[in-house]
Amino acid sequence: MAFKSIGIIGLGLIGGSFARAFCDRGLSVYGLDGCASTLAEAAQADIFQALTDDIDQFLKMKPDLIYICVPVEATKAVLKTLSGKGVTAPVTDGASTKSSVCALAGELGLNFCGGHPIAGREVSGFSASVNGLFDNAVHVLTPVAEGFPEDDLRALHEGIGMRVTVMTADKHDLVFGSISHLPHVTAFSLVEAVNQACPEAFSYTGGGFRDFTRIAASNPRMWTDIFLDNDKTVIELIDTYIDLLKSWREDIADKNEEKIYKRIEEASSIRRSIK
Ligand SMILES: NC(=O)c1ccc[n+]([C@@H]2O[C@H](COP(=O)([O-])OP(=O)(O)OC[C@H]3O[C@@H](n4cnc5c(N)ncnc54)[C@H](O)[C@@H]3O)[C@@H](O)[C@H]2O)c1
Repeated sequence: MAFKSIGIIGLGLIGGSFARAFCDRGLSVYGLDGCASTLAEAAQADIFQALTDDIDQFLKMKPDLIYICVPVEATKAVLKTLSGKGVTAPVTDGASTKSSVCALAGELGLNFCGGHPIAGREVSGFSASVNGLFDNAVHVLTPVAEGFPEDDLRALHEGIGMRVTVMTADKHDLVFGSISHLPHVTAFSLVEAVNQACPEAFSYTGGGFRDFTRIAASNPRMWTDIFLDNDKTVIELIDTYIDLLKSWREDIADKNEEKIYKRIEEASSIRRSIK
């Protein structure tokens, strides 16, 4: 069965942008959000067949697919609620960590497949949602339930211009721990370091500092949940990074010109090879 109607829980940046994309493809879109002002904004957008803040009313709309787009901890709470309501419809989500979300959905016996759109912005809420956010972006699927209509979920995302890839939830959390969660820790701590060492320097920032710390302007709720949920992997990655920073400190303190040059040369070559 191809999904013809999608019920989105959480109408912020990601849920709102998916709603716009699915509506553009001619699908029926229903929405639930816990925030009254978000519902009022969404109602102005002429995208949704119906909107509510009540889960029972939402389930009566009987969407072909339930799409959870709320922060990680809230995602787990929603999964428990759906299980408590005896939902058997296919359910997916867009949360940025996958291991614990998928493990919980499996324990609850939901007809679930995890997902993570690799697209986003540093702003949040329905007002930040845009058309085209997912154009040509990767969408990672992390399958859980055996009978889940995975081909339909793939087709849904390909239909809005995404490139779908499948991996285990644990591999997802290592990959995105490395290229997303560690860089966010680094960006947050770099802003803290400059703020402690020389706050006046912020008035002189150029492209390099701005590029490097763009992601430090991200949503605190979302990133607190991500770090706490992927804690073991993030801690291991931070430990590796601390060791590397210490070795940079040593090489600079030792004035080891040859080693410093080689390290920069190697990192620069790796960075240039990234497509
Ligand atoms: N922002 C990004 O760049 C990005 C990228 C990829 C994935 N994600 C993931 O997508 C999810 C949503 O992120 P976002 O940036 O859209 O957040 P957001 O803050 O913009 O929106 C979240 C929405 O969920 C609603 N909400 C929260 N708890 C709820 C609940 N229990 N029931 C109903 N509504 C609830 C909020 O009112 C809000 O409207 C997160 O899990 C995040 O990790 C975000």
